[in-house]
Amino acid sequence: MFARRVAQKAPGMAHVIAKRSKVTLPDLDWDFGALEPHISAQINELHYSKHHQTYVNGFNAASEQFGDLQCKLTGDPQQDTAVVKQLVALQQNIKFHGGGFTNHCLFWKNLAPSSQGGGEAPTGALAKQIETQFGSLDNLIGQTNTKLAGIQGSGWVFLVKNAENGGQLQLVQTYNQDTVTGPLKPIVAIDAWEHAYYLQYQNRKAEYFKAIWNVINWKEAAKRFEA
Ligand SMILES: [Fe+2]
Repeated sequence: MFARRVAQKAPGMAHVIAKRSKVTLPDLDWDFGALEPHISAQINELHYSKHHQTYVNGFNAASEQFGDLQCKLTGDPQQDTAVVKQLVALQQNIKFHGGGFTNHCLFWKNLAPSSQGGGEAPTGALAKQIETQFGSLDNLIGQTNTKLAGIQGSGWVFLVKNAENGGQLQLVQTYNQDTVTGPLKPIVAIDAWEHAYYLQYQNRKAEYFKAIWNVINWKEAAKRFEA
């Protein structure tokens, strides 16, 4: 993380100096080739170094523009209207790139090579909840893959814990880089964008959806569920 110092207006002061931090790529817990043969090293490298980096850059740029625009607010409604319109327009960028940043951070932690327990079935409270709600892990995987296959275009499927529904598990499908927020706590996030599989699986995305379960990090999922 790094920060830059920016001028901000505050009541009674011309300007104050505030720190504004930027988001950065997270460290990975494994090498790019560690998920082979299920996800190739080439895909992981491009996905992380190019695609995720693009969301990092996009979010930082949009956030910076947002902060700069906020500094232009004067308190005069006549002058502020144009600035507020620009702030509203920027929110789509923040939503897209911020979602992309967050979703991929979840995704990398959701994956692990077999040497780190990837693909090992969950245990404990999460395993019990899956059994209660879905009957078996295989049923949950089947329902998740059906939702993944149903995405027309780009999107994600999240296994979430719904805090407003007694902590029940739920499968949520989103489009583009929309993420889950509020009472929906992500337990597992699966990327269904073409960039996540096309170099290896081409149009056989069902094979990618099947293969990814071999490297799902259920230990991380269980931690999220129990936190
Ligand atoms: Fe992605």
